[in-house]
Amino acid sequence: MRRGWLVTGGTRGIGRAVVDHVAKAGGAVAVLARTPATEQYTSDDVLEIPTDVTEGASVAAALARAREHLGDIDVVVNCAGVHRGGRIADLDRARWDEVVATNLTGAYEVCHAAVPHLGDGAAVVNVGAVVGFRGFPGDSAYAAAKAGLAGLTRSLAVELAPAGVRVNLVVPGFVDTAMTAGVSAAARRRIVAAIPAGRTGTAEEIADVVVAVAGASYMTGAVVPVDGGLMATFGGTG
Ligand SMILES: NC(=O)c1ccc[n+]([C@@H]2O[C@H](COP(=O)([O-])OP(=O)(O)OC[C@H]3O[C@@H](n4cnc5c(N)ncnc54)[C@H](OP(=O)(O)O)[C@@H]3O)[C@@H](O)[C@H]2O)c1
Repeated sequence: MRRGWLVTGGTRGIGRAVVDHVAKAGGAVAVLARTPATEQYTSDDVLEIPTDVTEGASVAAALARAREHLGDIDVVVNCAGVHRGGRIADLDRARWDEVVATNLTGAYEVCHAAVPHLGDGAAVVNVGAVVGFRGFPGDSAYAAAKAGLAGLTRSLAVELAPAGVRVNLVVPGFVDTAMTAGVSAAARRRIVAAIPAGRTGTAEEIADVVVAVAGASYMTGAVVPVDGGLMATFGGTG
């Protein structure tokens, strides 16, 4: 387990499961999110840094504090995200901008600020979504942002490989978190029916893979679904 982790969106949901996993294994974590976690962390090695990943100045200040706390940054996990749906005629510019700014530009801001401090052996793990690879009606902003994140991942993987920095994309399927809490029971049933595994995933199941990918020394530029087989039903990322 590498020691210094920076996790955006680490206050709840999938990001929080990553933070808890790393803390339990003895790592130190800087958690970047706008609002504090409601549940206490179990380790004193976790430092929350109030940050809006859509703002370059906020991210730059957070990086400085994270480096003080962590010393070396070994792993960056870009997990901060928001979901806003809406069919294109109803999808106003404010919602489009919020989704792209958080899910895509936020990852750019964090990579832009953090990469100069990453050494040989460091890793970036971005958190994508199945809709970045598969069309769903009413999801164009989120899909565009997550597809962009896949492009950012692949391009950075090639750019940073000579420096020994790996960059991968973990793609969760449907996970029960605050983000998905508003999905109606009927829509949830339809979604579960489409998942070969016949159930939704847990934040911990995604976190396990984020940690494994961060430590996979010969993996870079990879797209790693953790989705109960959902992507396999339409040919995956090919
Ligand atoms: N849940 C799913 O089914 C699912 C499926 C596929 C992919 N994902 C992806 O997995 C990631 C985590 O999702 P989740 O389900 O765990 O969501 P969540 O429970 O809603 O957590 C989202 C996290 O992102 C943070 N965040 C949002 N906007 C931010 C901003 N501008 N600056 C800094 N932090 C920000 C939130 O904190 P604040 O709001 O306090 O800032 C929170 O910590 C997201 O990238 C999401 O797109 C989730």
